[in-house]
Amino acid sequence: MKVMPIQKREISDSRIVFGCMGLGGDWNYDPYTHEQVTIAEKAIEAALETGITMFDHADIYKMGKAEAVFGEVMKTKPGLREQIVLQSKCGIRFTDGVLPQRYDFSKSHILSSVDGILQRLGTDYLDVLLLHRPDPLMEPDEIAEAFQQLKASGKVRHFGVSNMTAAQMRYLQKSIEQPLVVNQLELHLSRLDWLDQGILVNRAEGSSLNFDDGILQHCLMEDIQLQAWGPLSQGRFTGKSLEGASEPVKATTALIAKMAQERETTPEAILLGWLMKHPAKIQPVIGTSSAERVKACKDAVRQAELMSREDWYALYTSARGVRVP
Ligand SMILES: NC(=O)c1ccc[n+]([C@@H]2O[C@H](COP(=O)([O-])OP(=O)(O)OC[C@H]3O[C@@H](n4cnc5c(N)ncnc54)[C@H](OP(=O)(O)O)[C@@H]3O)[C@@H](O)[C@H]2O)c1
Repeated sequence: MKVMPIQKREISDSRIVFGCMGLGGDWNYDPYTHEQVTIAEKAIEAALETGITMFDHADIYKMGKAEAVFGEVMKTKPGLREQIVLQSKCGIRFTDGVLPQRYDFSKSHILSSVDGILQRLGTDYLDVLLLHRPDPLMEPDEIAEAFQQLKASGKVRHFGVSNMTAAQMRYLQKSIEQPLVVNQLELHLSRLDWLDQGILVNRAEGSSLNFDDGILQHCLMEDIQLQAWGPLSQGRFTGKSLEGASEPVKATTALIAKMAQERETTPEAILLGWLMKHPAKIQPVIGTSSAERVKACKDAVRQAELMSREDWYALYTSARGVRVP
């Protein structure tokens, strides 16, 4: 079935997405605290001040507590729900008693996960639902039924995937009536397979790469929004201790700091600007829970526009640790 693409802007024109995995405290089933709600509130306010209006969740983040603290903040801000775009993910199940960690794209699990997400967020609809990681046992027709039901009930407006190959997306799309509008992948300056795969065709050093050749082009051609998780590289180039870091990381950190100083901006804006200069118009999903760090990302859109081809390659080469062939 040929699915008509949706214009990405119909979903969100937020060039950066706020990733909510850092909210809600620790990865355990302890209840969240008032302090965690306050941290979430400050981070959300900083995101909105920065022009970020799209928020990324997953049902598993902090065992549901990330969504729950976000829901607490929304309760105190009438009107906020309509101003923002909420995305969440399902399909990963943690170890549960004797049951192993696993993926679950069964219809019943997808439907019950969405009910849990909506209840924790305190909303009656999600803008975007992503399938979190590919389930080897996935049955496209069953997923299609779940999506159809969620769409018809108004619980989910748009659907997408995360960590999937182009072939997996095409396989699902054959059954799913709604267009898949997002693929969220790990794309950043300290995980470069996504670029190296494209430049090391027919070269021995390309044989160990692990990135689906063609996924970037598939998303571009089908008008599927690429989102980047891990875009701040966990702070590796922007202020985290360099103790034990490799030479390329040290050199790239220094280069980013120099560029930031010359352009009177922040290292975060340079780092994200590099990612956003790519023609795929990637949306970075920033995972900080610090309001200050969110604000440090604000200038990224401008830095992407200002970045020359030469500066882009200087950063790419520095992080690779070796020039392009
Ligand atoms: N689809 C998937 O499979 C998947 C997987 C992972 C994540 N995600 C999504 O992507 C988002 C971002 O992912 P991520 O959190 O892994 O990546 P990230 O944005 O690269 O890193 C954020 C982490 O780095 C820390 N950090 C950033 N700058 C720092 C600095 N200068 N010094 C010290 N620490 C620094 C942050 O701490 P502070 O909070 O202190 O700033 C935070 O813990 C998540 O929130 C989630 O929404 C999706």
